[in-house]
Amino acid sequence: MTTRYRVEYALKTHRRDQFIEWVKGLLAVPFVLYSQPTGVFGDGTSVAKMADEAHRRYAEIMRDVEMMIDDHISRQKQNLLQVQDANGNGGGVDINSLFLPTIPSKLGMLVPTAGPFFTRLPLEAAFKYQDRKRYISSRRYVAPSFNDVRLVLNSAQIMAVTGGALQLATFDGDVTLYDDGESLEPSSPIIHRLLDLLSKNIKIGIVTAAGYTTADGYYSRLHGLLDAIAESPDLDDAQKRSLVIMGGEANYLFRFDPASKHRLAPVERSQWLTPEMAMWSEADIAALLDVAESALRDCVRTMRLPATIVRKDRAVGIVPTDPSVRIARESLEETVLVVQRILELSSLGSRVQAAGTPSQRGVPFCAFNGGRDVFVDIGDKSWGVTVCQQWFGRGAGQAIGGENTLHVGDQFLSAGSNDFKARSVGTTAWIASPAETVELLDELADLMQKKLS
Ligand code: IMP
Ligand code: MG
Repeated sequence: MTTRYRVEYALKTHRRDQFIEWVKGLLAVPFVLYSQPTGVFGDGTSVAKMADEAHRRYAEIMRDVEMMIDDHISRQKQNLLQVQDANGNGGGVDINSLFLPTIPSKLGMLVPTAGPFFTRLPLEAAFKYQDRKRYISSRRYVAPSFNDVRLVLNSAQIMAVTGGALQLATFDGDVTLYDDGESLEPSSPIIHRLLDLLSKNIKIGIVTAAGYTTADGYYSRLHGLLDAIAESPDLDDAQKRSLVIMGGEANYLFRFDPASKHRLAPVERSQWLTPEMAMWSEADIAALLDVAESALRDCVRTMRLPATIVRKDRAVGIVPTDPSVRIARESLEETVLVVQRILELSSLGSRVQAAGTPSQRGVPFCAFNGGRDVFVDIGDKSWGVTVCQQWFGRGAGQAIGGENTLHVGDQFLSAGSNDFKARSVGTTAWIASPAETVELLDELADLMQKKLS
């Protein structure tokens, strides 16, 4: 049993997105029924007919899923109202409210890991858009894939936040804005697209795991963007100041400041920590990092990893001792799962999982596979994005909502991925390369323009 469980877990749970796999499974049925693999020498009209029929069936399925998400959202709202009723208006959370029976949606039963959804998702329209781009329905040998579904979901999310809703766009760094370990150079096609967002009065947060305590570290990674903003003749001062960098997941905040050296001014923690974050004690943080460090050391020893431990004040990780050597993907994943489990089983980790008031819950952490390295950071991107929502919401007196926020990142698998956590505080788009980020930003700009005119 245990072995079977471990194999299932290792092979499936953390390497699959259950919602995407489920949609992919639904689309496989019309693919099997309507694709014409034998029509190799057939006339073109039969393939065109097949494509029309497959398109109609795929679109119907996407519309059905869209309606199930609508139902899921209305249940989400009912359950929230129930919890709010139990807690009254006097503030403070009644712990018992966390255990109130909730009404599951059909989608929740079919895909228990789904949600929350911050907006409805126009999946049918998004499918039609992606089908025009990718000719999914015209394929006879390759069924709708994980990437097809991922891109349809991205388009649907973009459609849902344009038309005035989008106020804050947050971006991961590595793989999203630039290739892994690289920097945002002045020639990057992403830069003028980010400037375009700023010019439309959308706030930008770069929420990266890269943890540097001083501005020069971020300047060296992001100088192309920072210089372009500083020198832009099209942005006014307020628009230029609408960029922040949240480093180390949720540990170091810098605001854009044209007058500062490196164009970034550090913001004191006391000015931006949320009340919950302010309760994370330094002793607990150090203790958690100690446990993580010792677990990482064990992994290095048992798997003879060619790696060195890096300990920082808010993170601990392993990096290749020789930068030209790559640690095997399997070893990196094993390390993440081992460290995560040890932290969850430790007294510190179990407090994180326990229900209770924030001060009882302890310090959250994020263990992830960075592609070449493994890091355990204090906090995670849900906190990082939350800080951006609160920082930019200050003027208006309240935080920017999840339905008005879009986080773009490359790491959305449930374990060992750091963008995944952002899903709990805002809408998200899952890209696979900086080139896909460019396409996504073009789609966004296009729709905003169309909805304006
Ligand atoms: P992201 O994709 O922008 O979130 O950056 C992740 C990468 O940042 C990791 O894979 C590491 O290579 C690098 N990094 C540098 N310092 C830190 C740190 O303190 N914590 C986590 N990752 C770090
Ligand atoms: Mg990344």
